[in-house]
Amino acid sequence: MSITILAIESSCDDTSAAVVKDGVVLSNEMATQDIHQKYGGVIPELASRAHQQNIVPVVHAALKGASITKEQIDAVAFTRGPGLLGSLLVGTSFAKGFAMAIGKPLIDVNHLQGHLLSHFIKESDSDKDHPEFPYLTLLVSGGHTQIVRVENFLEFEVIGETIDDAVGEAFDKCAKLLNLGYPGGPVVDKLALSGDSMKFRFSKPRIAGLNYSFSGIKTSLLYFLRDRIKENEKFIDENINDICASYQRHLVDILMEKLIKAANEENIKDVALSGGVSANSLLRKRIFDEGLKRGWKTFIPEIKYTTDNAAMIAIAGYYKFVSGYRAPFDIVPVSRSTDYR
Ligand code: KG4
Ligand code: ZN
Repeated sequence: MSITILAIESSCDDTSAAVVKDGVVLSNEMATQDIHQKYGGVIPELASRAHQQNIVPVVHAALKGASITKEQIDAVAFTRGPGLLGSLLVGTSFAKGFAMAIGKPLIDVNHLQGHLLSHFIKESDSDKDHPEFPYLTLLVSGGHTQIVRVENFLEFEVIGETIDDAVGEAFDKCAKLLNLGYPGGPVVDKLALSGDSMKFRFSKPRIAGLNYSFSGIKTSLLYFLRDRIKENEKFIDENINDICASYQRHLVDILMEKLIKAANEENIKDVALSGGVSANSLLRKRIFDEGLKRGWKTFIPEIKYTTDNAAMIAIAGYYKFVSGYRAPFDIVPVSRSTDYR
């Protein structure tokens, strides 16, 4: 029997809706919220209001793009959390109302599980390239930095994670200090392409095991810039590409060091990347090169599936649905990972 899932993702500042049929994406629509750019970060109140404006047109576009009618949907999946509560409430309420109206089941999805399973999104039936269980994922985004052992479609274990800030925040903070706008990752990545990544050195945090820490790195960049500007007020303008390249290399070195350690300890050779920061060109190159060197099979998502998108929620929802799972209609969103069952 063929299964069609409509999914809604509204955990942060992008409103997305997707239709997936038997694991194949029929549509994946997105409305991004430019309003946050001028504030240098996501303003939760503005994000939830924008979701309210966007959700109906985005869902409409997803159904139209997939050329299906509401009656052909077998279940409605939505992101329950983690994320911004006001944003999650919009997607959750819409999904509940929609599922109730069409008389179909509701499936809640953990946003992180969506990122982890993004490698199973198929563009066509013949698309068979995906990791084998168990595999390791470096999940890197604006809210998370984790090394996850994925056991199967429904079970995963976080074996290492940041004890403070996410690596995406470290990219965004760098862009903020350099006056490059928000989100910072893409612009730091772009400027780094023409910079010297060995020009400036930053100290590495000493964190035990497979965990990470990025808050001290952000502060050390702040002090580094402050001290250099004291000597030369044009320091940033004259060195912007080299600063971006050196700082980016530093962050990627730290990410890769623990990922290699995890792959060795777990003796796993299928290694994947997911989350918004996996769009980073240096990180993509490094994981690919390490893979060649160490005999890993690496899985690097297409750019459109790195940042938040509803196709990944639909895939996770699809596997929950086929396992027999159904969400109760009195389910509520959760803002923190630890609150997710
Ligand atoms: O997964 P995502 O879209 O949202 C969250 O769940 O957080 O990730 C957003 C994060 C932001 O911090 C953004 O700066 C970062 O991903 N990002 C990048 C790049 N593209 C997006 N970081 C580094 N290099 C990039 N090319
Ligand atoms: Zn995300």
